[in-house]
Amino acid sequence: MAAPTPLVIDCDPGIDDAVGLALALASPEVDLLAVTTVAGNAPLELTTANALRLLRAFGREDIPVAAGADRALVRIAVHNLQPPHGQNGLGGVDLPVGTRPAAKDHAVELLARVLSEAAPRSVTIAAIGPLTNIALLLALHPELAERIDRLVIMGGSTTRGNITPVAEFNIWTDPEAAQRVLAGSGLDVCLVGLDVTRRATLDEPDLATLRTASTRGGLLADMIDGYGDHGPAGWPLHDALAIAAVVDPTLIETRGATIEVDTGVGVARGQTVCFFEPPKGKGVILGIPAPDVAPALRPRAQVAVEVDAARFRELLLARIG
Ligand code: BDR
Ligand code: CA
Repeated sequence: MAAPTPLVIDCDPGIDDAVGLALALASPEVDLLAVTTVAGNAPLELTTANALRLLRAFGREDIPVAAGADRALVRIAVHNLQPPHGQNGLGGVDLPVGTRPAAKDHAVELLARVLSEAAPRSVTIAAIGPLTNIALLLALHPELAERIDRLVIMGGSTTRGNITPVAEFNIWTDPEAAQRVLAGSGLDVCLVGLDVTRRATLDEPDLATLRTASTRGGLLADMIDGYGDHGPAGWPLHDALAIAAVVDPTLIETRGATIEVDTGVGVARGQTVCFFEPPKGKGVILGIPAPDVAPALRPRAQVAVEVDAARFRELLLARIG
């Protein structure tokens, strides 16, 4: 078997973040080196406490956790929706507090430390919350970008949004950070957005299976049960699909694209506009992206366009149950 992929998860737990963490910890294909937190689904203090609680619940308090940005880079995002993750961010499930504190340094410094100790192009970062920490990392430590192999992001949509008609929550929460990362980082970026994550669901019978499988499965089932993001096919586990795509990249199909994020303050704020490369020999790209980014800094972006939802569900239940 190939050596496990060194992985850092930047997150805002969050129920689907919790499922993503559980999946990473149960997957021999990845080696989770650190967890960093950002404000998003809940204020920073809570997302950090939740990350610590989750690592305790999963028996992995040896993994360092550091808190990062407590707000977006430029504009504070405000909405008036019921938080879909519940008031405590974990669907009302009351996990014991972590016995280890978060690291004293900022998330960006923990990320920088992990990267500086790593070989070139060796670390995968899975960003499953707003991209504030990642944008700060790239701004403060541009020399460490070459240590990152891939940046797998849960965020965006090429069609419908979930916080506005066109914007997805993680990108909408900090569009300026997202533009810095998606249009100006020069990294290998994989965007796992709502087009595919909406199809990555578990349903009631799956929760029943999880409950009988193990204590951990039961905890996660209770959290998912308290998740306000629920459609006819069940609960979409957005972040868990992004982590699954690190564990097994064949679960998704991607297309190369150039991405621009709408950072205006109009109705399209937070929209991820994807300029897809035409399939070989077919057609041309219509229009061109805004010319304010040097070509070398344009990420080599892949956007997920298809998912094998059945295989995702199987993998998830087998690993986290
Ligand atoms: C994303 O927003 C958050 O609510 C979820 O944790 C996920 O990262 C889905 O739009
Ligand atoms: Ca999240």
